[in-house]
Amino acid sequence: MSSSYESLKAAYEAAGQGHVFTFWDTLSAADQESLLAQLSAIDPTEISQIADSVIVNPAPVDESEAKLEPLPETATASLLDQEDEAAEWYKAGLDLIRKNSVAVILLAGGQGTRLGSSAPKGCYDVGLPSHKSLFQLQAERIAKVQELAGPGTVIPWYIMTSGPTRAPTEQFFKDNNYFGLDPANVVFFEQGVLPCLTKEGKIILETPAKVAVAPDGNGGIYKALWKSGVLADLKKRGIEHLHTYCVDNCLVKVADPVFLGWANAHKLDIGTKVVRKRDATESVGLIVSKNGRPGVIEYSEISPELAAEESEDGLLKFRAANIVNHYYSASFLEGIPSWPASALPYHIAHKKIPYVDIATGNVDPKPTSPNGIKLEQFVFDVFPTLEFDRFGSLEVHRSREFSPLKNAPGSKEDGPETSRADLLKESTRWLREAGANVAPGVEVEASPLTSYGGEGLDKFRGVEFSEPLAQI
Ligand code: UD1
Repeated sequence: MSSSYESLKAAYEAAGQGHVFTFWDTLSAADQESLLAQLSAIDPTEISQIADSVIVNPAPVDESEAKLEPLPETATASLLDQEDEAAEWYKAGLDLIRKNSVAVILLAGGQGTRLGSSAPKGCYDVGLPSHKSLFQLQAERIAKVQELAGPGTVIPWYIMTSGPTRAPTEQFFKDNNYFGLDPANVVFFEQGVLPCLTKEGKIILETPAKVAVAPDGNGGIYKALWKSGVLADLKKRGIEHLHTYCVDNCLVKVADPVFLGWANAHKLDIGTKVVRKRDATESVGLIVSKNGRPGVIEYSEISPELAAEESEDGLLKFRAANIVNHYYSASFLEGIPSWPASALPYHIAHKKIPYVDIATGNVDPKPTSPNGIKLEQFVFDVFPTLEFDRFGSLEVHRSREFSPLKNAPGSKEDGPETSRADLLKESTRWLREAGANVAPGVEVEASPLTSYGGEGLDKFRGVEFSEPLAQI
């Protein structure tokens, strides 16, 4: 141990992070071992360089220089007025799925702090009559698309977890028998972590024997796909197209044939779904053209004036709300191992981080105000690496595809109650369109195993639904 201790200590000191050994002499042998293991997985020089460039000496950002425009029309399509093409894209997408060339990646490493639940968000029951969790709804949609494509179809499901979400997520799937999917086609992998830093760029110790770390953001997906062996698995399975999505949207069309067919028809490397932004203040990122390249401005980054700007038709000028549904060609993701380390920027978030005071040794497990910084990468920060000929956005109906679960019960927007209501509203609409007589005020929950997107409901033509709640 001593030689690795000596060399690590030298490396941390050289990087200006030698304080992580402050309590070394007071630690038990077991604690020394676990601290060494944690420290050897971190490159202190790289961390100090990142800290310097994003926290201590960030380059001044002159956003007035950035030319922001809505996406060029050539890079957009809309299901709001392209119903005929949508039917063709659906057929083409289902063909790709039938060839077993499609996989799905779920981003489920977030901790859902705003929701106020300690379990992974996907386990959440939004209060549907069936009490299905978000994970179950998603699993059943995959099963249904496999069935629609035909016998022998497999859509592998890769689930990205993080340190805090991995064990409970895997356990939830085991306890629920993988919701009927074949466990061989449900692959869990884990994103990385980064040390939390002080505003001086120093690594924070959570306890005398432990570095405070946090998941590296949903942009950690790229490194994780490579390092965890998912890229190799995709190749082995002959996957050519991927649908990636975020865990908290109860309406998400997992492995959506329309989206896949559209992206493939346009030979895209990355495609992204958008909905119309609800109003100028909605907490969503916006897909834009930034200096002539595709990009996203996050809700925290846009000025209220720009957010409220209108175009001639009276709609918000910047209204393409990012719903974190991304298409990737497998050939694009295959390039990850050759990306430079600086491919994705780091964003900073000021947070309350449990810490030990280096000067006094006092541990504060629950600071009351933000005392440190978490570094995060964002999944969409690869967009600007593409030109508009390989990138596109597909506008979809908000009421059919987007109802995020962000906030705690009782919130006016984006909480469990709105998730439940939006899902029931959508399945009730399907039934009415199929010719069922659903009495006013009656709500119906359609299982994804009964219908993926409103298809296959002819048998309900003329059927009366008069009880306040029904399940089909
Ligand atoms: C995200 C988008 C935002 C979009 C909004 C729509 C990003 C960076 N921002 O914002 O543009 O308008 O959703 O709902 O994508 N996750 C991980 N690992 C992490 C952190 C998050 O896997 O370390 C996952 C979450 O589990 C979730 C997804 O990424 O599935 C989005 O994360 P969340 O924190 O909910 O993002 P928002 O801030 O809501």
